[in-house]
Amino acid sequence: DNRGMIDGFGRRITYARLSVTDRCDLRCRYCMAERMEFAPASRLLTLDEIERLADLLVARGVRRIRLTGGEPLVRGGVLGLVARLGKRIGHGLDELTLTTNGTRLGAAAGALFAAGVRRINVSLDTRDPERFRRITRTGDLGQVLGGIAAAKAAALKVKINMVALAGVNQDEIATMLRWCDAEGHDLTLIETMPLGAVEEDRTAYYLPLDAVRRDLEQHFRLLPLAQRSGGPARYFEVEGMRSRLGFITPLSNNFCDSCNRIRVSATGTVYGCLGHDQKVELRDLLRSGAAGTVDAALDALVAGKPRRHDFRIAAERPAVDRHMSVTGG
Ligand code: GTP
Ligand code: 5AD
Ligand code: SF4
Repeated sequence: DNRGMIDGFGRRITYARLSVTDRCDLRCRYCMAERMEFAPASRLLTLDEIERLADLLVARGVRRIRLTGGEPLVRGGVLGLVARLGKRIGHGLDELTLTTNGTRLGAAAGALFAAGVRRINVSLDTRDPERFRRITRTGDLGQVLGGIAAAKAAALKVKINMVALAGVNQDEIATMLRWCDAEGHDLTLIETMPLGAVEEDRTAYYLPLDAVRRDLEQHFRLLPLAQRSGGPARYFEVEGMRSRLGFITPLSNNFCDSCNRIRVSATGTVYGCLGHDQKVELRDLLRSGAAGTVDAALDALVAGKPRRHDFRIAAERPAVDRHMSVTGG
C-alpha cells in the first residue's frame, strides 16, 4: 500500500509509541533528576488530539500502539483514551499495549482489559522494599506488587522490565526470573541508556547483559527464540520455565537494523529515534486541522529516520538531552 511508511534503510514503520504525559509519580535515579521540569498542560496534546493522531498513524500502516509516559496512568482521563483506542483493535490496529510503573494498576487493570489491552509491561527493578525506595526515591514496593497482582487477576499478560544495575540489583536477577516464572510473567532485562542528565553517574551502574547472560547460564538453560518482533529485545526460552527472558542491549549489542518504530512525545513531537534529536512537531498541524500536512510531516520524519542510535556508556554527556520520560523509550 502506498500510504505505508518505509524509511531510508528499507524499514517499515508499523509501530508507534505514544507518550501521554512526561510526568511520573516515581523518580527512578537512572531515569529522572530529583527536580524535573515538566511540560505545562497547555502544551500537551489533548486526549482527542492523541486519538486523532492515532487514527492518522493507523491509516499510514501503524499496527501496534504502545502508550507510555512518564507514567501513562497519571494522565487524567487516560482510561477513556484507552477505551476509545481499543475500539480500533481489529479495525486497522492489531494491538494496544501500555508500559507502566505499576503504581496505579490496582485501579486501572480491569478497565485496561475491558478496553482490549491484553499485555502490559511493568517496570520493576527490585523486589526488596528498601532497594525499591532507594532506586525510585519515592516509591512504595507494596503498591506496585499489588498493581501487578491486579493485572494478573484481570487476565493481563505481564512482562516485567528490569533495568540491570551493577551493584544495585545485579544479585537479584536470578531470583527475579524465578519469581516471574512462578507468577507467570515474562522478564526483560535492560541496559541503562544515557538519556538526559541525572544526578547519578550511569557509567557506575552499567552492566553489560552478555555477562549477565553468561552468569544465568550457570543455572538455567537458555534457548534463543528465532523470531524478532521489531522491538529491541532478544528473547530466550528458559528450559523448564513458562517465562520468556528478554535482553535489551542498546550499548553492548545494537538492534536497530530491524527497527519498526517511531515515538510521539506528550506535546506532539515525533522522534525518529530514541537516541537522536531528529523530529517533527505535529501539535500545531493537528490543531490547524489539515490531515495532509500531518502526513507530509510524517513522511519527512520517516525519510530522515536515523539508521541507529549511538549510545556510549563512557561518554561524559548523555547522548541526547531528552530524558526517557519525554518519549517513553
Ligand atoms: P514491545 O512493544 O513489545 O517491543 O516492548 P518494548 O520492550 O519495546 O517496550 P517497553 O516499553 O517495555 O520498553 C522496554 C525498554 O526498551 C525501554 O527501556 C525502552 O526504552 C526500550 N526501547 C523500546 N524501543 C526502543 C528503541 O527503539 N530503541 C532503544 N534503544 N530502546 C528502546
Ligand atoms: N535507560 C534504560 N531504561 C530506562 N528506563 C527509564 N530510563 C531508562 C534509561 N535511562 C526504563 C524504565 C522502564 C522502561 C520504559 O524504560 O525502567 O522500564
Ligand atoms: Fe530504532 Fe533508533 Fe530505536 Fe535504534 S534507537 S531501535 S534506530 S528507534
